[in-house]
Amino acid sequence: MFSGKNILLGVTGGIAAYKTANLVRLFKKSGANIQVVMTPDAKEFVTPLTLSTLSGNPVHSVFSDDETGEWTNHVDLGLWADILVIAPATANTIGKMANGLCDNLLMATYLSAKCQVFVAPAMDLDMYKHQSTKKNLKELISNGNIIIDAKEGELASGLVGKGRMEEPENIIIQIENHLKEGLLLTGKKVLITAGPTYEQIDPVRFIGNNSSGKMGYELAEKAVKLGANVTLVSGPTNLISSKSIKLVDVRSAKQMYEAVHNHQETSDIIIMAAAVADYTPEFVNSEKIKKQDNSLQIKLKSTSDILASVGLIKKENQLLVGFALETNNEIENAKSKLEKKKLDFIVLNSLKNKGAGFGHETNQISIIDKYNKIEEYELKSKSDVASDIFNKIISLLK
Ligand code: CTP
Repeated sequence: MFSGKNILLGVTGGIAAYKTANLVRLFKKSGANIQVVMTPDAKEFVTPLTLSTLSGNPVHSVFSDDETGEWTNHVDLGLWADILVIAPATANTIGKMANGLCDNLLMATYLSAKCQVFVAPAMDLDMYKHQSTKKNLKELISNGNIIIDAKEGELASGLVGKGRMEEPENIIIQIENHLKEGLLLTGKKVLITAGPTYEQIDPVRFIGNNSSGKMGYELAEKAVKLGANVTLVSGPTNLISSKSIKLVDVRSAKQMYEAVHNHQETSDIIIMAAAVADYTPEFVNSEKIKKQDNSLQIKLKSTSDILASVGLIKKENQLLVGFALETNNEIENAKSKLEKKKLDFIVLNSLKNKGAGFGHETNQISIIDKYNKIEEYELKSKSDVASDIFNKIISLLK
């Protein structure tokens, strides 16, 4: 299950940190690539040398090395990880995670990570029972983290109660069980398009649109979490994606068409979330167009409809999903796109809904499937919308 996976272990300053030597060993034995980030206090309980020797990688704990001046890129670390495990997680670290505080490398990495995060708390029994800790753990759960509950037993204080970090062997079993449940798309190839396309007018100008690409990128991240092999064909965006996503950067509708057709045949699930330009200049001026008259006419020709072209050659076992952004006659227009482009379902964004569509962190969708079933969803974060879309996909695969 862990073979070839990138596991990032965050170690914080509690006595249970000494057990992470065994945790690193077990992950390594299971075939994972493992890197460790330690908080400054964690180094009082287990040495970086122990963990770097066992993991086979340098241990990270500071943003920049005093001697070499080298910077540890927390964003890269977060994106490298397929799984982030924070063990032991002290009450202090749990409090910071729940409130978005970011005063060390581990917290910056946590805030940058897009992968599933597992948290194994360890603290004294009264700290574990405290309302603040309970509230913080609840917050972590509602943010999508998985808590590996602490155990009853003898604690470092000499008291007996709940607060011991779960044993490394059981941490591994719990993560494994969770992944088994969640990996519903293992072995599936997913192709996603995202972002706008830019259609060049001359060397310095283009026709584009306001798509941020966020919806497509969230879909790609969700597909990875479900165990799929993901290719993301992306128009120009400011977004970054996890390292396990195969990113194909394109600019124009033509390039997107070609990239999609290079991958469509081997894909099981194809989702087209890109806002592709419908028209492109008939000619691209090789020189910058000079200002001349009061008006300028640029002749445009239509681009190929990528989604419709895939619909035409789609195999029976392939699942094809499109998007429709509408301002009026939403359901009618979306249904007509669903039929014309031969889709399994279409995700409708209505610009009439506040907080939906381009440029928002949220989206409000309806899904119309080829059986004419219409499902309406509430306004949600784009990450939760991606989950709804994959739940629909999984229900159709069954
Ligand atoms: N699409 C595509 N290639 C195009 C245009 C659109 O693949 N050249 C895809 C989009 O990625 C989306 C779906 O088709 O999944 C619908 O896009 P949309 O712009 O809403 O519809 P159009 O078919 O372009 O129709 P219109 O712009 O007239 O609403």
